[in-house]
Amino acid sequence: MKLLSRKATCNSHGQDSSYFLGWQEYEKNPYDDVRNPTGIIQMGLAENQLSFDLLESWLANNPDAASFKRHGQSIFRELALFQDYHGLPDFKKALVEFMAEIRGNRVSFDPNKLVLIAGATSANETLIFCLAEPGEAFLLPAPYYPGFDRDLKWRTGVEIIPIQCNSSNGFQITQSALDEAYQEAQKRNLKVKGVLITNPSNPLATTISRDELNRLIDFVTAKEIHLVSDEIYSGTVFDSPKFVSVAEVLMDRNLENTEVWDRVHIIYSLSKDLGLPGFRVGAIYSNDVTVVSTATKMSSFGLISSQTQYLLSAILSDTKFAKNYIIENQRRLKKRHDMLVSSLKNAGISCLKSNAGLFCWVDMRHLLSSNSFEAEMELWKKILYDVGLNISPGASCHCTEPGWFRVCFANMTEETLNLSMQRIKAFVDSIVATTTTTNHADTRGQRQLDRNSRRRSLTKWVFRLSSYDREPER
Ligand SMILES: Cc1ncc(COP(=O)(O)O)c(C=O)c1O
Repeated sequence: MKLLSRKATCNSHGQDSSYFLGWQEYEKNPYDDVRNPTGIIQMGLAENQLSFDLLESWLANNPDAASFKRHGQSIFRELALFQDYHGLPDFKKALVEFMAEIRGNRVSFDPNKLVLIAGATSANETLIFCLAEPGEAFLLPAPYYPGFDRDLKWRTGVEIIPIQCNSSNGFQITQSALDEAYQEAQKRNLKVKGVLITNPSNPLATTISRDELNRLIDFVTAKEIHLVSDEIYSGTVFDSPKFVSVAEVLMDRNLENTEVWDRVHIIYSLSKDLGLPGFRVGAIYSNDVTVVSTATKMSSFGLISSQTQYLLSAILSDTKFAKNYIIENQRRLKKRHDMLVSSLKNAGISCLKSNAGLFCWVDMRHLLSSNSFEAEMELWKKILYDVGLNISPGASCHCTEPGWFRVCFANMTEETLNLSMQRIKAFVDSIVATTTTTNHADTRGQRQLDRNSRRRSLTKWVFRLSSYDREPER
């Protein structure tokens, strides 16, 4: 008998979601233009690789920063010993100024209200630890980022209740959807502690409108609960309407120093805007002094290394560079986004109109064999194994309508994106051709042949996926 904790043996982490399974399948057969040209193209990973050259040329022009030097003198020992969990003051100052720049300097942030921590993953979990007890609930607009089941629920024991949004109004957060989610929590005897949004949204890639933000602020004010705004994609907004942070709306409504002011918290990270998820740079911004001091203590479990803080404080303190980076990165994201949208359109597939992010929310409802999540899974497996693209099914984002997929476009070269679009076009064309043939083939024999071949390929998918059903080796 193994003496392991419940946490070690429970499966609430969400690892068995198709979001993570797709990554595992990609790892087994990754596309490479030379070594594995028929492999799976990873379109399920929201990485931003479009502006590395800008950072690399900054590093080449500023060799001191990466070689632990200040004005030519080594600060290796200083950095090696630094262990204050409040973080490097210069870095905190540079980070809040960068956050303000992204918001067009319409708001400013106080470095004393900022808690540094290793990525938005840790930031979200730590904040939830500060705001809720196990068994209490947060309401999240659905579809939502699949990682939240791990980040918000797994170790904290907090429950997520989806705020059900749908395509009829572009997945906007309505008053009735908020009320229904709140009632659902009450029905389940769960105390609601807050609402958590992503703005811009992952997976929708759209910014949350001022109207929706006002509605959310009114809602959390009336219910006396928290509002967490994960603004990890704030720097990626490449098209109008422009990004409006919840901080801006609070200020415009003169809500500073009111009760609700202390209950609104912002999450940020450099994983998306600067494309540095490996550096693990995240932050919690809160007006509540107890949240700031508790989260700072908790940050001991996931500090950002001092050399990372030093390097990034040098990069971000170069405000001219930072400003140009944001503009150029957004220009490149828009170009990629437009490429994806027009290629999909050429294949007869449309996307939710979006203005931000590293992905599109793609409507493939017309390609489903029926309006069901089984059919969505069937289509996903076809696209993964037969077409060779790993995209994320809507079900993994808790979408209530089958047939939506999140497709990433910034983690690959333009050539790879073009290839992925050729593959999807050929796939859709083959479906159209099969449908036309089936419609014309009247004989029973032909139908039987089609059914047999369908069954054969389904067996292939089931066979390939069956390894996931097994319990891990103990
Ligand atoms: C909305 C959202 N929050 C948090 C994260 C986690 O980011 P980090 O790499 O900073 O931990 C992600 C990553 O995809 C995300 O999309």
